[in-house]
Amino acid sequence: MVNTQVSPAQSGIKIACQILHEGGMVALPTETVYGLGADASNKKAVAKIFAAKGRPKKNPLIVHVSNIGSAENYGIFDKQAYKLAENFWPGPLTLVLPKASNSCLAPQVSPNLNTVALRAPSHPIFQDVLNTSGLPVAAPSANKSGEVSPTTAEHVLNDLNGSIDLILDSGPCVLGVESTVVMIAGSTTSLLRPGMIQQEDIEKVLGASLVKPHSKALHGPGMLSRHYAPRAKLRLDALSHNKGEALLAFGPTPPNEIELVKNLSQKGDLIEAAANLYACLRELDDKNVGTISVMPIPESGIGIAINDRLRRAAAKKT
Ligand code: TXA
Ligand code: MG
Repeated sequence: MVNTQVSPAQSGIKIACQILHEGGMVALPTETVYGLGADASNKKAVAKIFAAKGRPKKNPLIVHVSNIGSAENYGIFDKQAYKLAENFWPGPLTLVLPKASNSCLAPQVSPNLNTVALRAPSHPIFQDVLNTSGLPVAAPSANKSGEVSPTTAEHVLNDLNGSIDLILDSGPCVLGVESTVVMIAGSTTSLLRPGMIQQEDIEKVLGASLVKPHSKALHGPGMLSRHYAPRAKLRLDALSHNKGEALLAFGPTPPNEIELVKNLSQKGDLIEAAANLYACLRELDDKNVGTISVMPIPESGIGIAINDRLRRAAAKKT
């Protein structure tokens, strides 16, 4: 096994672009979580992503682009799609659109689908890689499939050391929870995954309500079953704490003596909680506890995305 190289992000950009052009894989920081990037137009490179993550081949990937102009090469934008991209790009919004005909994307990016997921990340390092390489970059979160997403270079190294070429280390991701995924199909626009951008803000821009997705639109394990999961069992909405459990707290920590506790946000701030979510889950899970009890998180604002991830992480193994 050749160890994965970790480079300070800024000085590694040139080599990252070279690796992408040669069909290799690079983990890149985004404003949400670290992504595992490869040239989306190179089918061998895309296949490597599925192999490194152990990801089911039918689970489609997000293609990252620098801006709307570049995205138009891969997806068909209607009026609503333009409105959303103009308001929220670059940033944590993914648009699932009809595939453009004659696009150069490898079919493995969204196998057997006539749609493609597109996102322009705002992270300056990722933007720099996109502009310097000139490539569309397919990038799922840089973790093993079904497990906890990475928000630091160290998380990526723990999960994927030896199976990828390079990690660009830009410190912890600022937002910490993945992008909101919205699908536009004809006159219906649906929310496939809640994320950092709120449903109500999207609806304001559209001037219309988002609908619940048709079950056929839910193609990936990220949407359906157990996902974002640590090894430990999660006990959600815990109002009391059982002996032997670790505690994932939110708000002022309960006064009783608990040995293993991480607090998402002592002051009860949901934005801070989102930024800490995956690092806290990983840290508690590394202590090999049987169960992590999780204090209730308000189902509002970014709390909706946090609870979505926690529920999927708590779902039974199938
Ligand atoms: O914040 C993010 O979105 C991060 C960073 C790296 O950009 N990426 C990320 O990718 O979370 P991933 O692969 O872990 O999650 C993407 C989700 C999956 O649940 C996948 O099934 C869904 O988007 N998706 C991708 N293409 C799709 C398509 N054509 N139709 C429906 N869902 C799609
Ligand atoms: Mg993921």
